[in-house]
Amino acid sequence: MIITTEQLFKAAYKNFSIGAYNINNMEQIFGLFQGNKQSNAPFILQISRGARSYANKVMLEAMIKACDQLNPELVFAVHLDHGDEPNAHDAIDSGFYSSVMIDASAKPFEENIEITKRVVDHAHSKGVRVEAELGELGGVEEDIAGNAAHLTDAKQAKEFVERTGCDSLAIAIDTSHGAYKFSGNQKIHFDRLKEIFAALPGVPLVMHGSSSIPQDEVQKIEAAGGKLSGARGVDENDLRDVHTYGVVKINIDSDGRLIWTRVHREYFRDKLNGIDLREPGKTYIAEYGNFIAHKNEAFGSAGQLDAVRKLL
Ligand code: G3H
Ligand code: 13P
Ligand code: ZN
Repeated sequence: MIITTEQLFKAAYKNFSIGAYNINNMEQIFGLFQGNKQSNAPFILQISRGARSYANKVMLEAMIKACDQLNPELVFAVHLDHGDEPNAHDAIDSGFYSSVMIDASAKPFEENIEITKRVVDHAHSKGVRVEAELGELGGVEEDIAGNAAHLTDAKQAKEFVERTGCDSLAIAIDTSHGAYKFSGNQKIHFDRLKEIFAALPGVPLVMHGSSSIPQDEVQKIEAAGGKLSGARGVDENDLRDVHTYGVVKINIDSDGRLIWTRVHREYFRDKLNGIDLREPGKTYIAEYGNFIAHKNEAFGSAGQLDAVRKLL
């Protein structure tokens, strides 16, 4: 059942975090539903602008609706990840999305407020919730290349949320997108997270760039011919209690890409005459499902399906 992001956040706030997983194709969607079923977890399925153009937004919507029909016991929200203004308006008008992210974080503060406010006004008139972003993550955000990571300022965050009316806030605390997150002694700024939480009590916070880039996956990919030296992610243990500081949503994409890469590299390495795409496809669905169930355990959303259902 597709529910509003607000309903999910109400159940989760300060109790647990919800995994928000990016999907691009049928295998990921199947694996995602399977993993959440395995772990009895509510979840957020998120679709980036890139995914909407790769798999076609109409095709994605149809596949998600089909999986919803096939798994009536599951409860989830559908979210637009890193939308620009045209994409956000389009997703709102489609009537399919529980929430949209408007990412105007690369714009100056006042312009970010103006753009976000326009999206919030439209979204709220249609019952859709809005995630906005303040501060800049390191690494690459869609086609926006961030330079030095720019952390979210707690005082500005309070003003931003009050003036835009956004429903949740993506914060920059020195995580970054992709497989190469940290250089040198760089660490997540949990001190900053605590300041933002203190300035914004009750406001759902979102952590982007939260893949853990497991080193055993990296090694297996390299053993099968890939080159990912220096790939590093967020320590999963650091994410276990971020819900106590208002983090309700944790975004994961790159870890799923690593599993896809490892499964397919190993398949083609080990089966030189292999041409049946369904063979690695089946392995990927099962392994991605196990990964999702594992993440849900770490985030505390595993086993929370009944609690969310009771609130509906
Ligand atoms: O934050 C970015 C997400 O990982 C989505 O990536 O734009 O390549 O689909 P994408
Ligand atoms: P990762 O690249 O760490 O998986 O982050 C994904 C993300 O933030 C999607 O919005
Ligand atoms: Zn992101």
